Amino acid sequence: MRENRLLDAKAQGYAIGAFNVNTYDEMVAIAEAAQRRNLPVMLMASMSSARFFGPATFARLVRALDEFYSVPVISHLDHCTDRELLLECAAAGFDSVMFDGSPLPFEQNVEATLELSLKCHDLGVFIEGELGVIAGEEGPVKSAYSVFTEPDMAYAFCVRARVDSLAVSIGNVHGFYRGEPRLRFDILKEIAHKCSLPLVLHGGTGIPGRDVARAIGMGIAKVNVGTEIRAEYARSVLDYADEHRQDADARKFVAYLRERVGNSAGRYMDSFNPAGHTYA
Ligand code: G3H
Ligand code: ZN
Repeated sequence: MRENRLLDAKAQGYAIGAFNVNTYDEMVAIAEAAQRRNLPVMLMASMSSARFFGPATFARLVRALDEFYSVPVISHLDHCTDRELLLECAAAGFDSVMFDGSPLPFEQNVEATLELSLKCHDLGVFIEGELGVIAGEEGPVKSAYSVFTEPDMAYAFCVRARVDSLAVSIGNVHGFYRGEPRLRFDILKEIAHKCSLPLVLHGGTGIPGRDVARAIGMGIAKVNVGTEIRAEYARSVLDYADEHRQDADARKFVAYLRERVGNSAGRYMDSFNPAGHTYA
């Protein structure tokens, strides 16, 4: 069985940065940034990214980085609503997967997640569940509004669905925030009090460091970041093209892009590690 790095992060008081990636260059950039900080990191495929790479290719590329670097580099399938794809990824070597049953009624979410948890655990793969609705858009999962995670239901969900971690909705949203994010620490505190599992904070783009640090102190052990990584990637492509119209050396472009994406991810990793923990 793989090691559950989220339990360790929770015990040590930091959160593992989990970043959505669509290219191998983002993978390398982010793994390098994690290595420089001596911290574990998760590289996440959305459903469309998993299909774009192919599940086995994505898992193998991340495994190769994990073997190359001295810090754990962990593959994760993000926000999956397609049970077949989830099992395909688990069988293809993903370390961890998320089943997003949040659009389903509670009982159906429990039932579907439990069925997948049992199968994933047989394969030695960790599984994240979600309860409540996170506003914004993430692949096939979109909502114009939030439904905050209800703490008693969170407890029942964790016990019955047998997940390894739980994504919560506490005012976090997917995409850029309009105005200052307002996290409901009162709800997070109650969830963490009832539910001892590592908790996951989605919508990491744009949450101020002091809020993230407070959330980590209350049980958040993984923070997902997607929008900012995609935006930095796109800005790098455009900036480089603007400045180097005549220079067609792909390696220079890739090095530039990796540096910018790595710096962006690295700033998030720093803010997810308020006590300055390093991986032994
Ligand atoms: O699951 C992915 C994350 O929740 C990404 O959120 O795009 O707002 O950073 P973000
Ligand atoms: Zn998310």
